[in-house]
Formats: sequence, structure tokens, C-alpha cells
Amino acid sequence: MKILIINGPNLNMLGIRETEIYGDFTYAELIDKIYNYCDIANIDVDIHQSNCEGKIIDLIHSAYFIEFDGVVINPAAYTHTSIAILDAIKAIDPIPVVECHISDIDKREDFRKQSFITSACVDIVSGFGDNSYINAIEILVKVISNKKK
Ligand code: DQA
Repeated sequence: MKILIINGPNLNMLGIRETEIYGDFTYAELIDKIYNYCDIANIDVDIHQSNCEGKIIDLIHSAYFIEFDGVVINPAAYTHTSIAILDAIKAIDPIPVVECHISDIDKREDFRKQSFITSACVDIVSGFGDNSYINAIEILVKVISNKKK
């Protein structure tokens, strides 16, 4: 099983930015945790981070062209602004995409309560810190396995 993880703007600043909200783990530590989990679970994983909306869209398209089985995406602030990312997720249908957030976006400012991408995703995980990614991968693996049956 081959999955793609895409991280949006400012997530490279984990461990530095707003640690009271996002925790004190660094981006490198987050990536290590995901690689270790996927290694044990026998999942082939590619992880990317970009601060640019267009680059994130290209990465979503790459899930189709490189034939990934599924995607976990944390579009960060673009979650609340980007119809282009929504359209990109729709464009790679039926590849399943799980939306993932470190903080609980429903318990923060009103403008974070709206996600433009949720409607195109198979599920959303929000508010479990770095474990949000592990939970999102678990959900994605179940969806992919059910599809392959
Ligand atoms: C975030 C939540 C977003 O509202 C915010 O803009 C981020 C990170 C999260 O993972 O909690 O940058 O997606």
C-alpha cells in the first residue's frame, strides 16, 4: 500500500510556532513518528510539506499520476480559504483523501470552523496533536483495504 502525506504552510515551523496550540514537537520529529509507524505497519509512505498553494495542488495531482492508494492532507490555513485545493482533491477522485489537523479546528476561532475541503474527503481527524496523523493513516488504510476487497 502506497500513501502520500501532504502538509501545508507553516507546518515546517512546528516546535517553534504557537507551541501552546500545536505542541512542542518539531516537523522533523513528526515526520520521524510517521515514518516509524508506517515502517512497522508495512506502509510505503511519501511525506511532503509546502508553503505554496500551487505546489500543494501539484502534490495532490501527483497522487493520481504516481498512483498512490490514498492521501492524508493537512492543508493548514489553506483549509479555510482554498477552493483550488478542494477542486484538486475532487480531481483525483476516487483516490481517498483524509483531512488531518493537529489542533481541534472546531474549538478555535470562528474562521477556522469552516473547512473547504471536508466535503471531498472520506473523513477528518482534528485535535489529537501529532497522533492526528497516525489516526488519519489508520482510517485511510481501512478505506483502502475495504476498496480492494
Ligand atoms: C492546522 C489548523 C489550521 O487552522 C492552521 O491554520 C494551521 C494548522 C492544524 O493542524 O491544527 O496552520 O491545520
